[in-house]
Amino acid sequence: MNTMTPDRGVLRAAVALACRAPSAYNAQPWRWRADHDALHLHADRSRSLRSADPGDRELLLGCGATLHHMTTALAVLGWNTAVHRLPSSADPDHLAAIRFTGRRAPGEYDDAVLAAIDARATDRRPYSGRPAPPGSLAAMAAVAREHGAEAWVVVGEHRDVLTAAFAAAAAIQSGDDAYRAELAAWTGRGIHARDGIPEVSAPSSGLRYGEMVMRDFGAPARLHRRWASPEELGQLVVVGTVADDRSSRLRAGEAVSAALLTAELHGLAASPLSQALEVPRTRDVVRWEVLDGKGFPQLVLRVGVRPAGSLPPLVTPRRPVAEVFEQTVGEPVGVRDTRG
Ligand SMILES: Cc1cc2nc3c(=O)[nH]c(=O)nc-3n(C[C@H](O)[C@H](O)[C@H](O)COP(=O)(O)O)c2cc1C
Repeated sequence: MNTMTPDRGVLRAAVALACRAPSAYNAQPWRWRADHDALHLHADRSRSLRSADPGDRELLLGCGATLHHMTTALAVLGWNTAVHRLPSSADPDHLAAIRFTGRRAPGEYDDAVLAAIDARATDRRPYSGRPAPPGSLAAMAAVAREHGAEAWVVVGEHRDVLTAAFAAAAAIQSGDDAYRAELAAWTGRGIHARDGIPEVSAPSSGLRYGEMVMRDFGAPARLHRRWASPEELGQLVVVGTVADDRSSRLRAGEAVSAALLTAELHGLAASPLSQALEVPRTRDVVRWEVLDGKGFPQLVLRVGVRPAGSLPPLVTPRRPVAEVFEQTVGEPVGVRDTRG
């Protein structure tokens, strides 16, 4: 890296913050690499969820989320950036090249954004039953749109169809041995794990909110309640895109990251939910009968207000920076076109 690019310490701090991004099963399916004038995001397909996500759609969502976390972190650390998505036709796993376009002056909300990245965690517990303020949901939708996706709040009969799709998908997946084995391999981790879902972060096994079934991580019921009302589920927001290609999925991940950080900044609890979108038949139901064909559903977000006095959820572990980040010296990457 030259003097117009961040030094190694800043890059390491930015990678640590970028890795706070959410990913399915906390698989963290990404690698970061810096060369002398750019920072590169690569998919790590050794961390694909071959059963739940055979097409690597959710892998791209997670990578989009870390990409958005990265550019947000770099901005807070004083750097403006330009992103070239999918820069190499020869290497489909090279998902983004980030170039540094100059120094950025400190912003009024930088501390709050940094705190939001640090504190955000998937909250799978029952919420208060009070709806999230419409202004907060509108702010989430606005940032999703800025990143190339839509975020639709689903209500009424559409919500009933959506919750039924989750129940149907859960029933289908529960009969799939490969799915169950993969889920078991990524969950119930102890406190020293660096990836996967810790037992304390999982909902009780079999938890449902009226008709809505949560993904069953097999956690014992002593941790949280097993039964909750539909109101305690909170609001359901579907993040979707006009197209369903790799670029759209990457951008949807960026939009999810922006929406979740916005929820955190507004003091709301949130949890991504994807089971209904992992089964082709139920994903089609969501596309046609919930979104009325307006877009391809990429991820559902549950959003709500935490019960008064409840502590924020525990933050989950991440792999160490040294494992996901390398600095290489080499020829200039020659990324000139930043329109991607
Ligand atoms: C694409 C995607 C799909 C996810 N699907 C689910 C899900 O179905 N159920 C769930 O409880 N959490 C889901 N999550 C949340 C992840 O499990 C969570 O982000 C990860 O364990 C890291 O934890 P954190 O969000 O608390 O940092 C999903 C996240 C992403 C990005």
